[in-house]
Amino acid sequence: MKTKINQLLQEVDAFVINSKERLEQFRLHFLSKKGVIPALFNDFKLVAPDERKTMGMLLNELKNHAQEKLKAAQETLDTPDGKHTKGIDITLPAGRFKGGRHPISIVRREINSIFERLGYVISEGPEIEDDFHNFSALNFPPEHPARDMQDTFFIQKDPDVALRTHTSSVQVRVMEQGKLPVRIIAPGRVFRNEAISARAHCIFHQIEGLYVDKDVSFADLKQTLFYFAQEFFGPETKIRFRPSYFPFTETSAEMDVSCNICGGEGCNICKYSGWVEILGCGMVDPNVLEACGIDSNTYTGFAFGMGIERIALVKYQINDLRLFFENDLRFLEQFESL
Ligand code: PHE
Repeated sequence: MKTKINQLLQEVDAFVINSKERLEQFRLHFLSKKGVIPALFNDFKLVAPDERKTMGMLLNELKNHAQEKLKAAQETLDTPDGKHTKGIDITLPAGRFKGGRHPISIVRREINSIFERLGYVISEGPEIEDDFHNFSALNFPPEHPARDMQDTFFIQKDPDVALRTHTSSVQVRVMEQGKLPVRIIAPGRVFRNEAISARAHCIFHQIEGLYVDKDVSFADLKQTLFYFAQEFFGPETKIRFRPSYFPFTETSAEMDVSCNICGGEGCNICKYSGWVEILGCGMVDPNVLEACGIDSNTYTGFAFGMGIERIALVKYQINDLRLFFENDLRFLEQFESL
């Protein structure tokens, strides 16, 4: 039987398949029910028991070898020019979509440029932060429940090392340098331990702003954000402030813009209220200035922070935030930009 197997192996190798007809002949001769390989399997019962193991292995090898040859030949014959390109025509011109910026980058750049026109400078900082920059300096006392507002990813169970939960940490790093006045915006990725849904993700992007100088007032904050809202959402946009709480600002507020989709009439983007919440803001708490070495009797400041995904959802009328992270070309193609 061994001789027979070797002989068939050679025959399989020698068999030239250069057409569909030859392919079918190969299959009939070697592998079909009445083919020579299945016939050998029938003879297997005649093999002496102590040889069965080796013979079984050799027989299976022969069968696999023939099947692989059949499959490879089939693929080759299926491709138009007979080359091994597995059904992909590499000579076709590339697709229509030439690539472009991600919608989050488009929105980030637009927001950055509005504030740059107002004299703000872009500042960046590390994504892995210590407790001081992410919490303590921002007036979150230890054990204070406000820390639970931002579910934190800690690194290796070390309570002092975490992924930043907001880019306010960058504001602390800038203020620490002591160069006044400060007028910065801090765009970047932030991380919170939240369940992923259409409205929330554990990774998202923020842009925070900070202005510290002598005599900075809430009126300055309001006018700055009003200018931003009209530049970004259009000249008809109205704003309104609602009282809020953040440990690092006092007074604190949340700002809504009039819904640019329905113009305030009510639609499902603004949940029929005519207003969309877009950011948190407030006057920097004197404790924060002091923690960063700034004299809070001489200086005051305002800060604000917004989620880029949230603004992009409103701008492009998208109803599921997860689309920003899936990199599905059918979605991204719609944002071709320079
Ligand atoms: N850091 C806040 C957040 O992540 C946003 C904020 C920034 C609020 C500055 C007020 C002032 O939710």
